[in-house]
Amino acid sequence: MNDSEVSEPKPLVIIGAGGLGTEVVWVAEEANRGAVRSGSPQPCWSVLGFVDSDLAKRGYQIGTYIVLGTVEETATKFEGKEIWFLCAVGDNNAREKMVRAAEAVGWKPAKLIHPSAIISPDARIGAGSYIAPGCVVSPGAQVGSHVIVNFHVSVGHDSILEDYAQICPGARVSGGCRVGKSAFLGSNASLTPGVVVGDDAVVGANSHVVRKVAKGITVVGCPAQSVHQRHVPESNFLQPINLIQSIFQEIFDDPKLEVRPSTNRNDIPNWDSLAHLKIALAIDEAFGTRFTTSEVIEFHSVGDFLRALEPTNRQKT
Ligand SMILES: CC(C)(COP(=O)(O)OP(=O)(O)OC[C@H]1O[C@@H](n2cnc3c(N)ncnc32)[C@H](O)[C@@H]1OP(=O)(O)O)[C@@H](O)C(=O)NCCC(=O)NCCS
Repeated sequence: MNDSEVSEPKPLVIIGAGGLGTEVVWVAEEANRGAVRSGSPQPCWSVLGFVDSDLAKRGYQIGTYIVLGTVEETATKFEGKEIWFLCAVGDNNAREKMVRAAEAVGWKPAKLIHPSAIISPDARIGAGSYIAPGCVVSPGAQVGSHVIVNFHVSVGHDSILEDYAQICPGARVSGGCRVGKSAFLGSNASLTPGVVVGDDAVVGANSHVVRKVAKGITVVGCPAQSVHQRHVPESNFLQPINLIQSIFQEIFDDPKLEVRPSTNRNDIPNWDSLAHLKIALAIDEAFGTRFTTSEVIEFHSVGDFLRALEPTNRQKT
């Protein structure tokens, strides 16, 4: 349910007295005006003010609202009152911590959607999430909890934005994509249909992602590449070894792991049978191959996988 549908104004605090906080409070006011325009007898929110962990900001006036203090101070001030919150902290990990603090004092997550946003009735928006002016969220899309979807973002059909993700202004998420927990898409970044951006990954501003981004990796440019691999000659951009390396980094949960054709099962301690199967399945998914069980059993090194990807060898199987 969109929180703007209730009739009694709910007391709301905005956590984070920074630039994003001022935008969020404006959207709360716009949601109020939108509700009244569409015939609601009451606005939806009664904004109490900002909350910020920076003690130096306590008492600051921002527009018509004051910085009330920290979460704990504000909870004491309004003890016994039902409070709703929207966490407008731009750093995804810091936002998660502040959400935990707000939940610990019993506050409830608000969901703020600007009236100009177009949300399909078949899309789902999670608790505590923020949808800025001009966004479009398509049928079947799922936006998790405490996600920031900033100005003019489009989220294609059946895409998933996991909890604490952040999509910056103008970014384009094509259909069938998945943006992992706490992942970040910079302004005007775009995802080709169906790609996955791993948890905690970062896509630079104006970058275009054409293939899976492993967990925790930062990619930039067009086609987007890991910041660490950008100085590889352009002719090597699409070499399978680069993609295989990102598959290994994700499976072994090590963003710095480097692999060569000679890297074999003895070189990586956790390369056991289960990991081996996961590697084979991930390579199948990435390259459209269909390795047979007997092939997979025969592979012992990265080079074995690479050789099996060569078109002449695929024709034989
Ligand atoms: C991707 C990003 C997070 C990288 O930041 P960083 O880790 O501090 O990296 P650096 O600035 O040191 O840049 C590392 C390299 O990547 C390049 N680079 C950085 N961002 C890039 C981008 N968006 N596109 C292309 N190249 C980029 C830099 O030129 C640099 O190249 P070099 O190694 O040849 O010198 C940052 O540049 C970015 O794009 N942030 C998004 C900002 C944004 O959209 N904010 C929205 C606020 S609402």
